[in-house]
Amino acid sequence: MESMNEEVQMYESKPSMSAGVCLFTIFYIWQRTFNEQCTSVTNKSLGAMVISAVVGLSAMAWPGPLSHIVLAPSMASGTSAEEPCALSHIANVSTGVVLIFATALFLAEPLRLISKKASLRASYVAAVLVCHALHEGYGNPRIVHKSFELGRLSKAFDNFRIVQLTDIHVGATVGRSQLQKVVNRVNELKPDLIVITGDLIDGFDEPALIRSALEPLSQLRSAMGSYYVTGNHEYFFGSASERVLGELEGQLNDWGIRRLKNEFVSIGDALDNELGFDLAGIDDFDNGGNVTAAVAGRNPERELVLLAHQPNSIRSATQHGVGLQLSGHTHGGQMFPLHYACFFANSYVAGAHVHEEHGQSTQIYVSRGTRQGGAPMRLFAPTEITHLTLRSKHHRIQQPTQCNVSESLENTYSGR
Ligand SMILES: [Fe+2]
Repeated sequence: MESMNEEVQMYESKPSMSAGVCLFTIFYIWQRTFNEQCTSVTNKSLGAMVISAVVGLSAMAWPGPLSHIVLAPSMASGTSAEEPCALSHIANVSTGVVLIFATALFLAEPLRLISKKASLRASYVAAVLVCHALHEGYGNPRIVHKSFELGRLSKAFDNFRIVQLTDIHVGATVGRSQLQKVVNRVNELKPDLIVITGDLIDGFDEPALIRSALEPLSQLRSAMGSYYVTGNHEYFFGSASERVLGELEGQLNDWGIRRLKNEFVSIGDALDNELGFDLAGIDDFDNGGNVTAAVAGRNPERELVLLAHQPNSIRSATQHGVGLQLSGHTHGGQMFPLHYACFFANSYVAGAHVHEEHGQSTQIYVSRGTRQGGAPMRLFAPTEITHLTLRSKHHRIQQPTQCNVSESLENTYSGR
């Protein structure tokens, strides 16, 4: 709990620390664009006002006191209670615009030695990239298909299909309508299992809003159920975090979506290894996530899939015989050049990898996220709904066309 409070304090203290960065950003962008490119004092003054307004709006979306100006009305007085308001979208988009322009101008610095127009051309490129990032951020997530061969998975589960959602961040820029589109797309895939790997909500803690904003999740359908684990953003409520997690867990449980809290469940038959495998889930890595506790007492001969929000759980997962870890958290970097910050802070940024350590190995898949927190923009890191197919190592001997177990149980769960 102590570390969580420290994290909340750090989270809320960023605006004051960032005041200097804010002023420097305004001056830098203005200097490279309007001051160097314009001769008219009027245009320079106009440019300074526009840039100050955009940077000022973006500051409202940063964590801290100013964010309450954006977030509170966004969830309480938008077009409907479950949809973020226009101010919240504008403030968060401004953040992305500032990042893209500042990055483009900075990368163009060496070219200024060659051409006086380098900064101007960089601004044109930045404008195009802003449009692309908005298109990716507000567009529907693409379906990413991945397949993983697991050594202990029985033939009965060959071709078992899991849909992974992660980092939806319902809150500042993601509302009920976007969530509804995601749910519709998931149901079209007719998965055997649905998993949500954290950061489902972001920034609001009212029980009525949790219920109404997340209600589309009640329509999720799969042959063998839905499970979720917490991400770090579910703990960004200070002393209210326990209450929020309780509200969230109770509501999702009513809709048939079970939280895995450092524990495992059997998918299929709990006793017959030929007719089941284990699904474990842990709390967020920085907020009590414990793989050791999650897998305690299970049969190591059974296949094991782990839900863990942060990729950094992979070391512990490898020590505990996890066959496949499913994670999110990084957003794949979300917007260039944040990919590099993600690379240094996380074991893996995006995609499928095999982690090897001390003679053990575990496969991991890191989703780029179904939606995003903060700026509703994506630059070289598109959103995704991940459609995973598990393959038994025996599939090379016999290749069934459909997962046998899910076919037999489909009628049991399809009415949920
Ligand atoms: Fe996230």
